[in-house]
Amino acid sequence: MKPKLLDLFCGAGGASMGYHRAGFEVEGVDIESQPHYPFKFYQADALEFPLEGYDVYHASPPCQAYSRAKNNGSCKDALGLIPETRRILIATGKPFIIENVEGAPLITPARLCGASFGLGVSGFDLNRHRLFESNFPILTSPCQHHRGRTIGVYGNGTNSYHRNKFGRCVTVDEMREAMGIDWMVRKELSQAIPPCYTCFIGKYLLAALHGGEYQPSDFFPERRCDTCDVRHPSN
Ligand SMILES: C[S@@+](CC[C@H](N)C(=O)[O-])C[C@H]1O[C@@H](n2cnc3c(N)ncnc32)[C@H](O)[C@@H]1O
Repeated sequence: MKPKLLDLFCGAGGASMGYHRAGFEVEGVDIESQPHYPFKFYQADALEFPLEGYDVYHASPPCQAYSRAKNNGSCKDALGLIPETRRILIATGKPFIIENVEGAPLITPARLCGASFGLGVSGFDLNRHRLFESNFPILTSPCQHHRGRTIGVYGNGTNSYHRNKFGRCVTVDEMREAMGIDWMVRKELSQAIPPCYTCFIGKYLLAALHGGEYQPSDFFPERRCDTCDVRHPSN
């Protein structure tokens, strides 16, 4: 039987899809309705949702409180839910992951970058750094994107740096290709993490659950993931 993973703050399911591909039975919780979420879904406040009955937990609390936007003064009222999220996840006594943006107050997080997985479009690397705090070990490789040859995926259009480098705005289809996500609209894409990040982490999670140690080279001798068909970072 597959282990059960609960994805708190699931959005339209970028993280969930990666865990599904890694071999988990996934359910998601979000306070907003998520018509495109591909798995069993509960519309609820993640901090009040009953956590019994799951083997592992992932949480992506809203990042506005920590992202660069805050420094521009545009997200002054955003709540930082990370401390409370960590408190309830520790209380489960099970393996957990908390994902967020750079600048978020995570404890000794692993950092993943799109380019480390070979993600991108038209020869441009996907620049999308995300941090992953966990209560089990995760090994990653350093960021591998090429300076000046990157694109980003944002909700409010392509920023001027990437527009100048790419030569024009990135289309929604190009965003989908760069992220490895074909079921989301632009707003959902802008909030999502590429499924291959959590497919990668899911392999460590399975090792943590089964008391073993995950070595990416054991699973992917050619550094290519058998489930999400992208390159996985080596150690
Ligand atoms: C960064 S997005 C998650 C994206 C998702 N990890 C993915 O990869 O597609 C954060 C989500 O948290 C949800 N959210 C915010 N506050 C919430 C709460 N108190 N309970 C549940 N969901 C919440 C938002 O509606 C949003 O969909």
